[in-house]
Amino acid sequence: MDELINFLRIPSISALPEHAADVRRAAEFVRGWLAGAGLEHACLIEGDGNPLFYADWMGAPGKPTLLLYGHYDVQPPDPLEEWITPPFEPTIRNGNLYARGAADDKGQLFILMEAVARTLRNRGRLPVNVKFLIEGEEESGGEHLEHYVPEHAEELKADAAVICDTAMFAPDLPTLTTGLRGIVYGEIRVQGARQDLHSGDYGGAAPNAIEAAARIFCTLKDRSGHIHIRGLYDRVQRPSAAELDAWRRLPFDAEHFRRTEVGSPELTGEPDIPLLERLWARPTLELHGIRGGFTGEGSKTVIPAQAVAKISLRLVPDQRPEEVVTQLHAAIAEAAPQGVTARFELMSASPACVVNPEHPLIRKAAEAMQKVFGRETVYIRCGGSIPVVGLFAQALGIPSVLAGFGLPDDNIHAPNEKISVSNYTRGIEAMMEYFARAGS
Ligand code: BES
Ligand code: MN
Ligand code: MN
Repeated sequence: MDELINFLRIPSISALPEHAADVRRAAEFVRGWLAGAGLEHACLIEGDGNPLFYADWMGAPGKPTLLLYGHYDVQPPDPLEEWITPPFEPTIRNGNLYARGAADDKGQLFILMEAVARTLRNRGRLPVNVKFLIEGEEESGGEHLEHYVPEHAEELKADAAVICDTAMFAPDLPTLTTGLRGIVYGEIRVQGARQDLHSGDYGGAAPNAIEAAARIFCTLKDRSGHIHIRGLYDRVQRPSAAELDAWRRLPFDAEHFRRTEVGSPELTGEPDIPLLERLWARPTLELHGIRGGFTGEGSKTVIPAQAVAKISLRLVPDQRPEEVVTQLHAAIAEAAPQGVTARFELMSASPACVVNPEHPLIRKAAEAMQKVFGRETVYIRCGGSIPVVGLFAQALGIPSVLAGFGLPDDNIHAPNEKISVSNYTRGIEAMMEYFARAGS
């Protein structure tokens, strides 16, 4: 726990260039720690962007090889004033460890690191072969890993990837995730007049770039949550009847979800589609922020000439990111009102993916978790994205075991992120048990 706390103290925020040195310190921390734990070939891999980390232990010939993935970068911590204790001063309260990265993903990455280190310490060897591949750009859409994996497919050869970067469906309920949504993230850039103008002199004649950005967005998505991008739904696959049925049996109360997790007066989204399906298996469009005009204290009567709107689409099987980007370009150009130009600048894209729960290395994970948590493991999907899962499937041809030990209320990407200390320790036990079963 002390070592995890030291790891969490490092503000390895990959989205902010001023934290580049901290990001590197976090990578160095992982290297020093895993080299010290007895992993071999521990090294940082330099390239475009933040270093990747690689290490392996291949002393179990004939046994499966697991590719252990995690990310040492974290999201920016703002708004800072909402944190009860500062984001990079990890604190334990009520059985939870609070810090940015506690659940996403440093704390969960540490579960894998600890499980390997402890097994090596206890037995002097591992029951399986392992290769660690850890990145520092997951939260910022960096491309280092995306280039590295296909180019080093032979070195990364494994039977399955193991990733602790998701959440359990409910406290004490062991959970494997079998599907993630993909994502297309980028900016709508709007240009109206040559420069900002006085709204008294020019209001009534000059186009307003922020208004145009808002109109574009509201054209792309209507009040019911339906997305108006031509062709977007063409390839969308509904989950199987069996999967939908399994989701209906999960312990889930939409009203409790609304009250405790969302905290809004009502839930939104496509009215005819069940909530879990909306969250896990439907494409969605979100507006993340709009920049432009005047947002300072006081008033300033200005017509903004420029606006930038950050947006993303979540994708589901079998949508193709490149195709969606093309559809989005067309929809934005078409929706741009009179007097402005609007274009879409892509920042990152990755496909949705699903894994087969019948795969033997996934079934063994379900059994290991069941043993440690004392309840039957449930299979869920997740609305978030872990771009590497699609990459591992495509470039290495391997499934990912998505064994998450977060909780729905861990506040990932938000103020007061936490991990439950007991989930952290049970996570380590479950992964140790999994290595034993995968090797037997
Ligand atoms: N660990 C999350 C993915 C996740 C989110 C798992 C929610 C379980 C529940 C991951 O670090 C993440 O935040 N992914 C980004 C990807 C994006 C930046 C390309 C996401 O989903 O927004
Ligand atoms: Mn993560
Ligand atoms: Mn994240």
